Amino acid sequence: MKNEISQYINVRVSAKCEEAQDIASFELVACDGGSLPVFAAGSHIDVKVSESLTRQYSLCNSPAETHRYVIAVQKEPSSRGGSKAMHETVKVGDTLTIGAPKNNFRLAHDAERHLLLAGGIGITPILCMAESLAIREASFELHLCTRSIDRTAFRERIAGSHFSEKVHFHFDDGVAEQKFDMQRQLAQSQSGTHLYVCGPKGFMDAVLSSARAGGWPEHCLHYEFFSAEPVSADSDEGFELQLASSGRIVAVRKGQTALEALTEAGIEVASSCEQGVCGTCATRVLVGIPDHRDLYFTAEQHAANDQFTPCCSRAKTTRLVLDL
Ligand code: FES
Repeated sequence: MKNEISQYINVRVSAKCEEAQDIASFELVACDGGSLPVFAAGSHIDVKVSESLTRQYSLCNSPAETHRYVIAVQKEPSSRGGSKAMHETVKVGDTLTIGAPKNNFRLAHDAERHLLLAGGIGITPILCMAESLAIREASFELHLCTRSIDRTAFRERIAGSHFSEKVHFHFDDGVAEQKFDMQRQLAQSQSGTHLYVCGPKGFMDAVLSSARAGGWPEHCLHYEFFSAEPVSADSDEGFELQLASSGRIVAVRKGQTALEALTEAGIEVASSCEQGVCGTCATRVLVGIPDHRDLYFTAEQHAANDQFTPCCSRAKTTRLVLDL
């Protein structure tokens, strides 16, 4: 089944605010007026934007709140439909169907200190983490890097918060002294400190490669990608999937995803982002070597080759036997 949400919740859009240029926030409350499921910092929800479109958005209000969820959406010029619909179609009073919060981007509660790095709209889960850490009086520092003040969401909320002194703003168009000094921050791993990063892929790649070069242990690096960059499919070859339960073989054509092939064959696999970032479609691999193209699993999980994301990943062997 495509775009499946495991637990449906009907919510009403109770507020929609322009937080910055091309960034709008949406406050969602339960249609029945009750409490919403509790969530932890770093959580996201699936939002059914239309019948055929489900998108993931991080929760950016305080996890101490149960009366509402707040999400923020950036209008993307290259939108595949989700951000455009949220900006142009969804209005206050509308009802939306969402999924219960899921969390792939958790705070390490045993860390002595937390270094939070956000690029642009990546502030959404990071802000929720800051709220959570401030409530727990944990040691943390947040750096928010954006193109300009006009494009900085939640600037006023942060400035008025009780943790404002822990937040540093860095604007690409600002003077040199205020720019984010990645080298200085990450050149050396800091004992007991965990690093969290969210933002555009280029920003995240730069942060993660600087941190790895600086010797930060992998278990201290926490990240969540919003979307993947398109990958050229020119050199892709077709391959086969075999279902372990029945022995049935499904051919994946060149130019077709494994998920599309399975769906075409009437085999249901839950999916959501279809870009390899959410993990919804993760499927166990029993035999064969996947060609991992997702940003969801860690390098260690990729190396194990015992699961893959059929929405984007392919195969290095002619056949993958799946636990389906
Ligand atoms: Fe999101 Fe495959 S559907 S990773």
